[in-house]
Amino acid sequence: MKLIVGNWKMNGLTADCRDRAGQLAAAVKSSPSFQMVLCPPMPMVGVVADILKGSAIQWGGQDCHEQSSGAFTGDTSAEMLKDLGCGYVIVGHSERRQGHKETSETVAGKAKAAHRAGLIAIICVGETDEERTAGRADQVISGQLKLSIPETATPENTVIAYEPIWAIGTGKTASDNDISYMHSFIQKEVKDFRILYGGSVKSSNAKKILHIFHVDGVLVGGASLKADEFAAIAESAGN
Ligand code: PGA
Repeated sequence: MKLIVGNWKMNGLTADCRDRAGQLAAAVKSSPSFQMVLCPPMPMVGVVADILKGSAIQWGGQDCHEQSSGAFTGDTSAEMLKDLGCGYVIVGHSERRQGHKETSETVAGKAKAAHRAGLIAIICVGETDEERTAGRADQVISGQLKLSIPETATPENTVIAYEPIWAIGTGKTASDNDISYMHSFIQKEVKDFRILYGGSVKSSNAKKILHIFHVDGVLVGGASLKADEFAAIAESAGN
């Protein structure tokens, strides 16, 4: 079963999120070929949860703090996400690693917090264009995996998302060969963990990507903001 995760990032006011979740809840039926997960912006998680309850779609957060509570202004704990019915949380997205200077050690702490709260952690890794051009992609990914995956991780509570940074939001998807090579490389490092691909996935390329060996699903940004487009991506897992 493929995991189809929509990362809405910082997009959508209440009405947009409600509409989009409602359209998806109506369109997406429970399927043996895929599980859909929506990750709305934090203030919208409860709004989306109310709509998705009883549907075939699960939901999650885009980030969490390492601690369960305390004086951490602006942060959200994994326990809070769990309390809102989340099943998943994305940690270590490149926009957090780069924009919020999160290290792999921080990411591991967040993944551990997710496990403590009973959430599945989606741990993101990915190399920059510069690192790839310099022939360092393997080394970078291997280093991120070693440091970002906590000792609490199991194939049941952790999913890895490979997102080459140069492919995120750029319209440039990694080639089939690159995806195939990197997913096999990651699989050798983490064995039984599921591995998602992310970076400019859309309905026109999803089918091809989802059928590459060791691609267990996709993490979708831009294309998850349109209900029909995102539903089409999920449907392509089945045929
Ligand atoms: P994108 O984003 O699909 O817009 O490239 C993917 C992601 O950042 O998770």
